[in-house]
Amino acid sequence: MKVAIAGGGVIGLAIAWRAAAGGHEVVLVDPYPGRAASWAAGGMLAPVAEAYQGEETITALGVAAAARWQSWAAEVRDAAGADPGYTRHGTLVVARDQDELAALLALLDVQQRQGLRAERVSSREARHLEPALSPAVRGGLWLEDDHQVDNRMYVRALIDACGRAGVSFVHERVDVCRDRAIELTSGLVVSADAVVVATGAWQPRIDVDGDPVTLPIRPVKGQIVRLQATASAVFPAKTVRAENVYVIPRDHGEIAIGATSEEKGYDATVTAGAVRELLTSAWELLPALAEAQLVEAMAGLRPGTPDNAPLIGPVACGAPTVIVAMGHYRHGVLFSPVTAEAVVAMIEGAPPAPVVDPFTPDRFTAVRA
Ligand code: GLY
Repeated sequence: MKVAIAGGGVIGLAIAWRAAAGGHEVVLVDPYPGRAASWAAGGMLAPVAEAYQGEETITALGVAAAARWQSWAAEVRDAAGADPGYTRHGTLVVARDQDELAALLALLDVQQRQGLRAERVSSREARHLEPALSPAVRGGLWLEDDHQVDNRMYVRALIDACGRAGVSFVHERVDVCRDRAIELTSGLVVSADAVVVATGAWQPRIDVDGDPVTLPIRPVKGQIVRLQATASAVFPAKTVRAENVYVIPRDHGEIAIGATSEEKGYDATVTAGAVRELLTSAWELLPALAEAQLVEAMAGLRPGTPDNAPLIGPVACGAPTVIVAMGHYRHGVLFSPVTAEAVVAMIEGAPPAPVVDPFTPDRFTAVRA
């Protein structure tokens, strides 16, 4: 089968690789594969820390995806001949004051009711787990099952895996996705048996049977800072999170500090105020960060949806040839294995894993413009 994919972030790349590895002829269209939200991401694989009340189906998808990640990372490495940067260092969620401690206990309650592994730790125990933590931290939760991947190593490895599996890349902009074809802004048309729309926060025109379809996707800006550890201090080894900040150390010394969450439309400006707040919050948790080298500040646009859940499935009933894999919001990297496998199953006419059932795009009755 010939498959055309619009969008080369981690979702589009993962689908492309799996489809090509399954014997399909795959064309992926993106002017800059992997360089938008996937490049800005933190790479936390953290369904337990992000187990929000009322989002049980999203948590279930995240837990299923997290359980798949270890073997997925090994398969990506074998297919790419490159390390995707997967690590299992666990995550500490910590509180700096009484209010944050109360929020943390509420989170623990949600986690326990969903059967997730979370351990309440005192300030002393938290610092034993992560010696770089500030003594001012009031205690926390130790989440052994929340891991991480270096999102940029993962992007590079997926691109290599796609290349080795025979995926053709077209470095152009998508104009229209419709039944059996993607039209590019250059006028070129890529014909296919199945079209997958995986364009993140950017929505191309989608035409089904000649009718335009608009999906409820909006950009949610996230600013993130990257530091590099130096020899002069003890830097964290585990992911550390608090209410408005997360700090993700990589084995090669990079430390990602994220992220803002801003409803600013398609504005990806990096602002001095956001960078200051991220650095201050991170420094309150981990004072040694003041000694690290400041490398980069970047903004990415998360693809948000009205219920914070992704859209995975045919864009409209009766049009299985246009499949959407969008709206992954804060979880694109985490959800990429299960999304890729579900979409490839749909392309092949097989039932996807039941865990993706709640995420059909028609739950919003795809709005016809
Ligand atoms: N997944 C973390 C974020 O979106 O900031």
